[in-house]
Amino acid sequence: MLNDINTIFRMCENNNLISPHNLEIPTFVPRLRLGVLASGKGSNLKALIRLTKSELEADIKCLIVNNAQAGAIDIAKKNNIDCSILNHNNYKSREELDEDIINIFLKYNIEIIVMAGWMRIVTPVLINKFKNRIINIHPSLLPSFKGANAVSKTLEHKVKITGCTAHIVEEEIDSGEILIQAALRVNENDNEQSLLKRIQLIEHQILYKGIAIAGSRLRINY
Ligand code: GRF
Repeated sequence: MLNDINTIFRMCENNNLISPHNLEIPTFVPRLRLGVLASGKGSNLKALIRLTKSELEADIKCLIVNNAQAGAIDIAKKNNIDCSILNHNNYKSREELDEDIINIFLKYNIEIIVMAGWMRIVTPVLINKFKNRIINIHPSLLPSFKGANAVSKTLEHKVKITGCTAHIVEEEIDSGEILIQAALRVNENDNEQSLLKRIQLIEHQILYKGIAIAGSRLRINY
């Protein structure tokens, strides 16, 4: 008996805290149409592709990246997802880039835009066109450590518990409604790389749930 209790305690200790924790993923008929914005290696994109084959009735219809080196491009290719490269240096303003993003997503009838490591600030041009339909994943427990370098700031401040947040994108950076968060312990020997690695694992666990929350609201308002 004692052993059983200890096992349960250990399991609780190892489990990361996710809230809301008892979320039921709704069915989406027809399947949700997702567009993804990415700038980096694409681990969130990869996880999302996998989850759309099991947990979430959604399809990633297209990917937009802002640099030709983004690892996300290869992931999209391997999974037959259309990809557009919009180099931000070719645009005179953020608004012009956003206009092109809108045109691509409209062409694919995108319902929800997922920022999976999109390292550009977006403007009201995009935000207002897709009001409450743009979701970002951020590597901290917002409202702590908004903006860039969230993980190094976490370590600098000797924070003991951190995590990640999926939220609605608003004009002020990392400030929109929080949809779901996951928390984990910072270990004494963590560096930026080791901590980010663990945070990303829980990002993958919550991003699709954030999409499900936003998607179900959208479908109710049809
Ligand atoms: C993620 O850690 C996310 O929190 C941040 O950018 C990173 C993207 O990683 N916004 P990946 O490209 O999905 O691996």
